[in-house]
Amino acid sequence: MYTLLKQEGNARRGEFKTVHGTVQTPAFMNVGTAAAIKGGISSYDLVDLKCQVELCNTYHLHVRPGDDLIYEMGGLHRFMGWERPILTDSGGFQVFSLASLRKIKEEGVYFNSHVDGRKIFMGPEESMRIQSHLASTIAMAFDECVENPSTHEYSKHSCERTTRWLYRCKEEMERLNARHDTINPHQMLFGINQGCVFEDLRVAHMEEIAKLDLDGYAIGGLAVGEPTQDMYRILDVVTPHMPQNKPRYLMGVGTPGNIIEGVARGVDLFDCVMPSRNARHGHLNTWSGIRNIMNAKYQKDDAPIDESCDCPTCRRHSRAYLRHLFKANEMLAMRLAVMHNLYFYNTLMEKIREALEQGRFSEFREKYSVLLDTRI
Ligand code: GUN
Ligand code: ZN
Repeated sequence: MYTLLKQEGNARRGEFKTVHGTVQTPAFMNVGTAAAIKGGISSYDLVDLKCQVELCNTYHLHVRPGDDLIYEMGGLHRFMGWERPILTDSGGFQVFSLASLRKIKEEGVYFNSHVDGRKIFMGPEESMRIQSHLASTIAMAFDECVENPSTHEYSKHSCERTTRWLYRCKEEMERLNARHDTINPHQMLFGINQGCVFEDLRVAHMEEIAKLDLDGYAIGGLAVGEPTQDMYRILDVVTPHMPQNKPRYLMGVGTPGNIIEGVARGVDLFDCVMPSRNARHGHLNTWSGIRNIMNAKYQKDDAPIDESCDCPTCRRHSRAYLRHLFKANEMLAMRLAVMHNLYFYNTLMEKIREALEQGRFSEFREKYSVLLDTRI
């Protein structure tokens, strides 16, 4: 259940109650694709990193170790040792971005696994059954993420199919939640808005899916190669058609600047591989921009990555030490860097929430929106 606590312009400060605890929004969901955050981050680290929600992938976990196994192990929470909310993506996006030889039919998608080439079929019912086995807090609807560029005609037909798939998802989820052997009978379902970069399709699709009174609504099919201004334009036209009393999730976004701009347009939830992926390449977020720790100027720099950061890494280690770990290919380099970036993202969300509470979000946006995405 979502409660709107405060609003500034279109930006929302809210609270999202789940069976696994309450999420303070706006929030960033930390990506643990295959039931692990890349870079050697454990679930007890995530608590220190101020992570509120972890995101896992239906597709990856279905392929390995298998959702049957996770069900037998008592569900994802127990399997990973993480008690707070988990959102699982439906497999829709991953099937389209990772799997090979895929065929999209009305019933679902036929494709080959990216691990062993094995033939797999996934449709709305399969995705819901897998997510019910995983017993995540929030399940995402099975959708088609239309690639960019796509024609208006293709996008329209794809959107209509995604709507039909959504009806099937909802029915299957209700059936599964009512079963006596379901681990999480309170599993929530979020619908996903599509429509490529076409404003008319986006609005029509959003109005269509809003009728289903789901637990939340996501905007998908963005940050897939379109110019940033297109993404902001789509957000501007879609968010006014999203239910006020439900959480809104912008999938796969983004840079700190993108997140601030998303919040300004009324988005509550985000997820992205960027902080962990960038960290693994030595690109570290700071309050004055992005630092490349490999740079020679940090060789004898005794300061922490960010002077104002109190993450586990910055509390103890210098830029010089981190640079050395990267140069020496030490595993610890990844771990310390990812911890810093995730802490930065979760702190960014905390600061956004504080700014909203104190009615100074527009000031915050003015100060940080461009700065945080700048390389220094
Ligand atoms: N992750 C990023 N974009 C998307 C999308 O459009 N659909 C799904 N299911 N996941 C996503
Ligand atoms: Zn830090």
